[in-house]
This record gives sequence, structure tokens and C-alpha cells, in this order.
Amino acid sequence: MRRAALALLVLAAAGCAVRIPEPTREMADGDETVLAELKAGRELYVNKCSGCHALHGVDRYDDARWTAQVDEMLRLKKVKLRGEERRLLLRYLTRANDPGWK
Ligand code: HEC
Repeated sequence: MRRAALALLVLAAAGCAVRIPEPTREMADGDETVLAELKAGRELYVNKCSGCHALHGVDRYDDARWTAQVDEMLRLKKVKLRGEERRLLLRYLTRANDPGWK
């Protein structure tokens, strides 16, 4: 009984921890241009992707799955992104999803 309650608690806590980390110089390997792109990508993610459903933590998918999910949203016409916006968004998602960024 107590163990079940504890398991529920752990699950609930894990469900709340949606990781959408702020880009850092470290994440950009010290490259200012990359840092600016990562910031722009995060901004696109927060602005373009939160209208219909909660934002998913970046660590939920690997690079290939993120690319597929973004393209699926485009295909279903859930979101409009210019080619450059898609590139920046995916640059952020596929970088920030590396384990280790908080
Ligand atoms: C206009 C509303 C809308 C916007 C804006 C939108 N989505 Fe979605 N999204 C949906 C709907 C509806 C589904 C469920 C579609 C389905 O599964 O058939 C979905 C599903 C998803 C899923 C799969 C979730 C799961 O649990 O399997 C991901 C990942 C996702 N969206 C990411 C994004 C990203 C990234 C963006 C921004 C580029 C975005 N969405 C913008 C409506 C939206």
C-alpha cells in the first residue's frame, strides 16, 4: 500500500519535470552564432508549439523522433514554419535533448 503511494508520487514528480532548458554558452560550445540560433530555436518552440498542447520536454525524443514530430505537425498543418524557422527549431530541440543540459 505504502509502496503504491510512493510509486504514484514518483510518477507525478517525473511528469512535472518538463525540461526546456535555456541555451547556454556551454550548450553552444562557446560559439556566439550557435548560441543565438539556439535561443531563437527555443523561442520558436515556446511561441509556436504551446498553443494546442503542453510543451513536451526536450528529452522526450531523440533527434530523429524530434525531426519526425516537427514534420508531422507541419504535414498536418498544425503549425507554419518557414524553412529557416524549421532549421532553428530543430537545431534547438536536437541540441537541448542531449542528456546533461538542465
Ligand atoms: C494547431 C494546434 C497545434 C500546434 C500549434 C502544434 N501542435 Fe503538436 N499536436 C497537435 C495535435 C492535435 C496533436 C495530436 C495529433 C495526432 O496525434 O494525430 C499533436 C501532437 C504532437 C506531438 C505528439 C505527442 C504525443 O504524445 O504523441 C508532438 C511531439 C507535437 N505535437 C509537437 C509539436 C511541436 C514541436 C509543435 C511546434 C512546431 C506543435 N506540436 C504545434 C496540435 C498542435
